[in-house]
Amino acid sequence: MAKPSIQHGSSPLIMAKARILSGMRPTGKLHLGHLVGALENWVQLQDEYENFHLVADWHALTTAYDRTEELVENTREMVTDWLAAGIDPQKSPIFIQSHIPEHAELHLILSMLITLPRLERNPAVKEQAKLLNLEDKLSYGHLGYPVLQAADILLYKGNLVPVGEDQVPHLEIARELARRFNKVYSPIFPEPRAKLTNFKRLPGTDAQRMSKSLNNTILISDPPDVIAHKLRKCITDPLKVRKGDPGRPDVCPVFTYYQKFYPEAVDEVRAGCESGRLGCLEDKQNFSRKLIEYLEPIWEKRRFYEERPDLIAQIIADGDARARKIAAATMTEVRTAMKLP
Ligand code: TRP
Repeated sequence: MAKPSIQHGSSPLIMAKARILSGMRPTGKLHLGHLVGALENWVQLQDEYENFHLVADWHALTTAYDRTEELVENTREMVTDWLAAGIDPQKSPIFIQSHIPEHAELHLILSMLITLPRLERNPAVKEQAKLLNLEDKLSYGHLGYPVLQAADILLYKGNLVPVGEDQVPHLEIARELARRFNKVYSPIFPEPRAKLTNFKRLPGTDAQRMSKSLNNTILISDPPDVIAHKLRKCITDPLKVRKGDPGRPDVCPVFTYYQKFYPEAVDEVRAGCESGRLGCLEDKQNFSRKLIEYLEPIWEKRRFYEERPDLIAQIIADGDARARKIAAATMTEVRTAMKLP
């Protein structure tokens, strides 16, 4: 595949690397689903692209406007996990949305370029509203979630956005807003594209999708005894009641974990499970050991950063400064394009 090389910034003669804008709402300590579905991707993309990593704390207000006291702690834990997973803050700035007021300014301008029915049609917001029982109580800001996300991306002229399937409707709105702005004023924004993660969603320990709200997560930062405990309690094939019963690996979350974290063992585990030779308990104990081995280097980095809160603050201040420069330049272009005084 050809590497996209795209012009942006003020020197049109220099072909820069394509730019990636990725973001997460600060929900605190991250789980294995985040590691597999997002972080490992971000780390892989660091050399090929220019990456910006956004802590979307204003987005967190859409569902937690009355729990703002959690934001600082949740941001620190999340950023610590990013760094532990291997994000290099020198290559890839880490910054905080609410520290860059231009996000709010561009959000306001973009909000004029989209209709209410278009926002109400967005399946991602609809689904979330249903999940949280907010259907008839959706705030103006919550409905505008994808408009703020579009501002996040367009401010940095992001070309690619690594997201899961569930975010694709938001991305479509960002593309529409870029096109609309370009048509109405002048063509300054690239149309951002979704970069879908290649690993399917990780199941939680109850075989539903891994999610904090379902209480079925294994955290990246869980200590070994907690990991062993969570795995011991993890659901397997409900029809495999005791060792000797033939099992169905394809319905078992532990088998999915093997596929991701210890693929070398997949054939052997499948054969053992299907024949009944391998009991679930033994299987889960084996996997616990492997997962702990896998996570150890991440824990080591995590400890390094945990012991250095000043370093984390410095990393964020540096990321903010780098982001602010680009955001300010883009807003100057936006105001000029719109003939705003
Ligand atoms: N909506 C994203 C999520 O819930 C978070 C997010 C906010 C984001 N702004 C972004 C993701 C910009 C990518 C780009 O995970």
